Amino acid sequence: MSIVARSTTFKLGDRTVNRMGYGAMQLAGPGVCGPPKDHAAALAVLREAVARGVDHIDTSDFYGPHVTNKIIREALHPYSDNLAIVTKVGVRRGSDRSWNPAFSRDELTQAVHDNLRNLGVDAIDVVNFRVTFNAHHPAEGSLEAPIAVLADLQRQGLVRHIGLSHVTATQIAEAQRICEIVCVQDHYNLAHRDDDALIDDLCCDSIAYVPYFPLGGFTPLQSSTLSEVAVDLGTTPMQIALAWLLRREPNILLIPGTSSVGHLRENLAAAELTLSDEVLTKLDTIGKIDTR
Ligand SMILES: NC(=O)c1ccc[n+]([C@@H]2O[C@H](COP(=O)([O-])OP(=O)(O)OC[C@H]3O[C@@H](n4cnc5c(N)ncnc54)[C@H](OP(=O)(O)O)[C@@H]3O)[C@@H](O)[C@H]2O)c1
Repeated sequence: MSIVARSTTFKLGDRTVNRMGYGAMQLAGPGVCGPPKDHAAALAVLREAVARGVDHIDTSDFYGPHVTNKIIREALHPYSDNLAIVTKVGVRRGSDRSWNPAFSRDELTQAVHDNLRNLGVDAIDVVNFRVTFNAHHPAEGSLEAPIAVLADLQRQGLVRHIGLSHVTATQIAEAQRICEIVCVQDHYNLAHRDDDALIDDLCCDSIAYVPYFPLGGFTPLQSSTLSEVAVDLGTTPMQIALAWLLRREPNILLIPGTSSVGHLRENLAAAELTLSDEVLTKLDTIGKIDTR
C-alpha cells in the first residue's frame, strides 16, 4: 500500500480517490502568473505525486493563466484511468495579476473549453464554480445563472461533475436545486475554521469538502502550539496540519500545494500520521485563539 493510500478514500463524483491529493496552483510563476521558475522541477513534482499514489489533482486554467494545466498535460498525459483532475472556472486574470469575476455564459463556456484543450481531455472530471462576490470571504448572491450554464455543459458531456468554491450553505442549497454538487472547496485549516459547521453538514450528505490553503496558503501556518506538537511527535508542523485535517472529518480531501519535491514527499507522508485525542485537544486551541 502506498503512503498516500493510508489517508483512506472518499467519493469524488463517480470516482473513489485517496484523501491525500495535490494542488497544482504553486506550479505557476510568482503571483500565480507566468511560467514556473523551474519548469523541470514542476514536471518532477507532478510525476512524483502520481508515482506516490496521488489520484486527485486540483488545478485551474486561470493559474498562469493556462500555465498549470499545460504543465500537468506535459507531465502526465496520457492520464492514468484512476486520476481525477479537478479544475475551477469563474475567474479571469487581469494584466495586473488581479482575479476578476467571469460569470457570463460566454466566459464560463470559454473557460471550460480552455481547460479541455490545455489539459488534453474530452471531458473534465469535476469543474468547480469559483464564486467571487467578495474576495476575502464567501458572500451571498445568486448562483442560478452560472450554475445553469455549467449544467448545460454537463448535459453536453464536457463536464462530468460540478462543484462549488468560496460559497455559503445557502448557495450550495440553491445550486443543488439545479444539479448535483459533488464537492465544495473553501478556505479552511487549523487556524481558519469558519466552515466547521458546513463540513459536518456536507459529511452527513456524503459531499466532499476540499480545503484550500490547508497549510495556510502563501504564508504557511505558524503557531507555537503546532511547532510544539511537531517536535513532540518527531514530525514537521506542516505534516501535523495535514494529519489534523485528515482526522477532522472523513469527507475532507486534501490538496496541499507545493513547487518542491521535498515538500511534496513531506506532505504526502502525513497520510500515515496518527494523532491521539490528547494531541487533537491541544491543536484545537489554535483555531480558538486565531479566530477570536
Ligand atoms: N478555490 C480557491 O479559491 C483556491 C484558492 C487557493 C488555492 N486553491 C487550491 O488549493 C491548493 C492548495 O492551496 P495553496 O497551494 O494555495 O496553499 P497551501 O497548500 O496551504 O500552502 C502552499 C504553500 O506552502 C508551502 N509549503 C508546502 N509544503 C510545505 C512544507 N512541507 N513545508 C513548508 N512549506 C510548504 C508552499 O511553498 P513551496 O512551493 O516552497 O513548497 C506554498 O507557499 C492550491 O494548489 C489550489 O489548487 C484553491
